[in-house]
Amino acid sequence: MSSGEAPSSAKSSDRKPVAAPAGLPAREAAVRLIAAVLDEGHSFDAAVAKELKATSLPPRDRALARLIAATVLRRLGELEAILQSFLEKPLPKRGHLWPILLSGAAQLLFLATPPHAAVGLAVEQARADRQARRYDKLVNALLRRVAREGAAALEGRDAVRLNIPEWLFKRWVATYGEADARRIAQASLTEAPLDLSVKSAPEGWARRLGGFTLPTDTVRLSAGGRIEDLDGYADGAWWVQDAAAALPVRLLGSIAGRSVADLCAAPGGKTAQLAAAGADVTAVDLAEARLKRLRANLARLQLEAHLIEADAVTWAPGRTFDAVLLDAPCTSTGTIRRHPDILRLKRADDVAALAGLQSRLLDNAVRLVAPGGTLLYCTCSLEPEEGVQQIEALLARAPLFARTPIAPGECGIPAEWLTPEGDLRTLPFHLPLDRPELSGLDGFYAARLNRRT
Ligand SMILES: C[S@@+](CC[C@H](N)C(=O)[O-])C[C@H]1O[C@@H](n2cnc3c(N)ncnc32)[C@H](O)[C@@H]1O
Repeated sequence: MSSGEAPSSAKSSDRKPVAAPAGLPAREAAVRLIAAVLDEGHSFDAAVAKELKATSLPPRDRALARLIAATVLRRLGELEAILQSFLEKPLPKRGHLWPILLSGAAQLLFLATPPHAAVGLAVEQARADRQARRYDKLVNALLRRVAREGAAALEGRDAVRLNIPEWLFKRWVATYGEADARRIAQASLTEAPLDLSVKSAPEGWARRLGGFTLPTDTVRLSAGGRIEDLDGYADGAWWVQDAAAALPVRLLGSIAGRSVADLCAAPGGKTAQLAAAGADVTAVDLAEARLKRLRANLARLQLEAHLIEADAVTWAPGRTFDAVLLDAPCTSTGTIRRHPDILRLKRADDVAALAGLQSRLLDNAVRLVAPGGTLLYCTCSLEPEEGVQQIEALLARAPLFARTPIAPGECGIPAEWLTPEGDLRTLPFHLPLDRPELSGLDGFYAARLNRRT
């Protein structure tokens, strides 16, 4: 493998031999992504949009940059532990030196990049950087040592405890017990497969795309490659949506011709489901830019909804709906496989702050449900304050509402994904399959309530 080639876990279908330093732009982009998240506090998605979408990097380099940066964000604790253990005194963490080292170490330890490529390109990056330049020899020596001794030094270290922030792991232990907290953590440290919701004929699309269908009708493929290049994208036959995220809308049952308010709707995975099922959808979101994305997604899918830019805490349209879906903003701790930046950016106080917002959103949502109608509340958080505790508190203050429990087998949902009260509670280690890279699903909570007539 030449120094320009991708690590073995990157998609390789169009791989061509390229001479060094052809791999440099991808590594430079990876370092910019790492710094954007770790130093500047941007979300990974925002960093990708800023650093990758605007560049002229070929798709393969973008995929590689993304893969390296995501691996660093997932494995930051292990990478830092190894680098620090090989250093006599700490290095400056500001600037690009540390991200260059993290990127190099991630390629060596987790992405099977040949040492001459990972080390050589990291040294070139250091030399090209004004602040890191004087450390080029150290970068070379340190990464060579990581290549020689890093894997052995990692053995026996506790990957879960190193990579998952203490506050978060403690929460999971308190909620799920030590054994399941570890399973959640381990699953959260793996890359998620690509899940698609299709407008129709899931089996046919699974065959065409080389994937398979889950019992809940999601089409699952291996991650990697450009989504836009997949068959059916341009025709709007499907959209990307985690298998767990696709469940809440299904729990509304037959919604053709019914009015549905989709609160906190962007980027619109659930709006698309509702519209594809024939509902008369009003989609509300606070963020103009995200609503723009929702509009573009619906246009590609040739689906329609009324879009409203408004704060769903106070939105008062002067009418009620047959169903209200509230997919509330949350800490998203159930989606770390797809958003590893959550590990680095979320703080313990975010849980309480978001729980306060969820409660205010719920107070408005109940006002919008017609007599006999349904309220579906969901979040992609693993934290009980953002899930079951919201619903217990709401039921205590909204006597017109009662749970309609989800039954095992409903919408293909196994009993293991349900709480004793009949709420949906998926965890990232659920759905284990023979191939680990095709296993798992996002951690989602959903509760279905009905308003008395
Ligand atoms: C979990 S995401 C929604 C995902 C979306 N339902 C889907 O399936 O694609 C949460 C959304 O809530 C929006 N949001 C946050 N606070 C809001 C508020 N007060 N009113 C309306 N939307 C809000 C955010 O802009 C974000 O788009």
